[in-house]
Amino acid sequence: MTLPTHLQNIHLPLGDQRTGRFYGQDILSVAQFDRADLEYIFGVAEAMRTMVAHIGTFDLLKGKILANLFYEPSTRTSSSFLAAMERLGGSVIPINEVRYSSVSKGESLPDTVRTLECYADVIVLRHPETGSAAIAAAAARKPIINAGDGIGEHPTQALLDLFTIREELGRIDGLTVTLLGDLKYGRTVHSLAKLLALFNVKVNYVSPEILKMPAALVAQLREKGLTQAEFKALDPVLAETDVLYVTRVQKERFENLDEYEQVKNAYVITPATLRPAKPKLALMHPLPRVGEIAPEVDDDPRAAYFRQMEYGLYVRMALLAMVLGKA
Ligand code: CP
Repeated sequence: MTLPTHLQNIHLPLGDQRTGRFYGQDILSVAQFDRADLEYIFGVAEAMRTMVAHIGTFDLLKGKILANLFYEPSTRTSSSFLAAMERLGGSVIPINEVRYSSVSKGESLPDTVRTLECYADVIVLRHPETGSAAIAAAAARKPIINAGDGIGEHPTQALLDLFTIREELGRIDGLTVTLLGDLKYGRTVHSLAKLLALFNVKVNYVSPEILKMPAALVAQLREKGLTQAEFKALDPVLAETDVLYVTRVQKERFENLDEYEQVKNAYVITPATLRPAKPKLALMHPLPRVGEIAPEVDDDPRAAYFRQMEYGLYVRMALLAMVLGKA
């Protein structure tokens, strides 16, 4: 890639000793990453951010094609992967409505990914069933990137969440992170908690009883040495919190909608809620929100959720460049 002269002092970490670490690999779970991997990914994401700010679009992945295969609705993940590929000079096969594809005729997931890899170099997959990304990866020769598999994982969201914390607060070690809302069905918090276990942090879980973090995951993270505590109310932990990560109650995952009605408005963050919070708090949400954060909070400088979406573009540019062997 040839850069304009005024950009030649920007460090795009091509040639680092970790180059090639993810070339050709699937991104299925955050369990794949250690701290050194995260530093490397974030370094590439920072370089992508600088490049987008200065030149917008460049040809790192010119000639490469991404298939965006979404069996569930998405705004951020699907459009940020599309934007990431186009910012890098590549192109995209968008399948955002599988009902208009041969999936509606009964084509299996393995056959669908085998088809798409004939035309594309990498496949981003969102699917309602936990484990579906691993099934697709077993069938495919080209890299599969998990964009959310049921209530399982959402690894690229967790990477962008961690990148957001690092960009907003300058560090991860030493922080208190409070995860609030639907911790049972929220795949973003499952992936984020696993990544946080790589750091020296304290994690608070605040949820209604029926939406608690899965006990098996809490036990697994305790084994890894993560300091965790569970609460039903935000008040006892808000003042010590550095990162407040709010989640939507996932109506679509409930078998009993009466239960959803009981908990759907369990927590609503308003300007009054935030009064006892730290001045340097990072208030995050993977979005979409459906009432958990009042729009009046949006102008508070601590509201990081719109910046969080933008950080996602840079992290996804970094991941695409890495799995396609260009970073
Ligand atoms: N955060 C997230 O996954 O958003 P979408 O469902 O809009 O992709």
